[in-house]
Amino acid sequence: METLHAIPRLRDTVRNWREQGESVALVPTMGNLHNGHLVLVGEAQKLATKVVVSIFINPMQFNDKSDFADYPRTLEDDRQKLDVNGVDVLFVPEQAALYPMAVPMAHLGLDSATRVEVPGLSDILCGEFRPGHFTGVTTIVAKLLNIIQPDIALFGEKDFQQLLLIMRMVHDLHLPVKIVGVPTVREADGLAMSSRNTYLSADERVRANKLYQILCHANEQITRNSHGTCDFRAIEHKSMALLDNEGLRPEYFSVRRASDLALAGPEDQDLVILAAVWLGKTRLIDNVRIG
Ligand code: PAF
Repeated sequence: METLHAIPRLRDTVRNWREQGESVALVPTMGNLHNGHLVLVGEAQKLATKVVVSIFINPMQFNDKSDFADYPRTLEDDRQKLDVNGVDVLFVPEQAALYPMAVPMAHLGLDSATRVEVPGLSDILCGEFRPGHFTGVTTIVAKLLNIIQPDIALFGEKDFQQLLLIMRMVHDLHLPVKIVGVPTVREADGLAMSSRNTYLSADERVRANKLYQILCHANEQITRNSHGTCDFRAIEHKSMALLDNEGLRPEYFSVRRASDLALAGPEDQDLVILAAVWLGKTRLIDNVRIG
């Protein structure tokens, strides 16, 4: 596996691949890789002949500076995992390469950088609690897609809102790439794999799967009733109380329409339940599709 830092080198490599008739998949990450990322890589290998993984801890998507400073940086470990898993290129750009500052505006930092925003969908659920987060995500993903110009790009369904936003951005900007969502990979006890799980203490780790259990419980309640007769708001309320009882502090627990994340009503069929909680100092998110 080659590790590339410079955008022109990466573009040359992709151009050479294209000349040889290869197809290209991109798996964007922020590193601290776990099995969920490696499943994305495995899926990418089924769908394209060359796979690029990017590792970039994107400052624009962190609404909390200390969260950015503390984010685990495990490049050597990550590099080895990707190498063993047959990735073709690891792309590790410098911040200055991805966010080139116009000199007269440099003192404004990222605030002066061009951004890509999907209004509305970026401001609800996680976006309500992490202002600016999704604008950072869509901006960096748009840059990576533009630099690499892959045929497909893969994202985990654990970040369901992020996946929907990226699909919407690609559609609205006519970007010639197929976005593929990959089902959430879980630990044996149901906890969704996440780079942030390493923040959990031993005791918190034991309790963390309550989030998935309570999501599944709500799912069963809704599936058992016919949709039309189900009081979604009452189920959300009860689930928040259950989370509280388990010592997980919920930010939101919400039954939404899967297509656009609007609040679900009795007439809606394709639904998803999404939740975000704090467990100690760790923020966990998860979701389940209904039915
Ligand atoms: O899901 C992530 O790891 C990040 O949000 C992404 C998509 C790599 C953008 O920085």
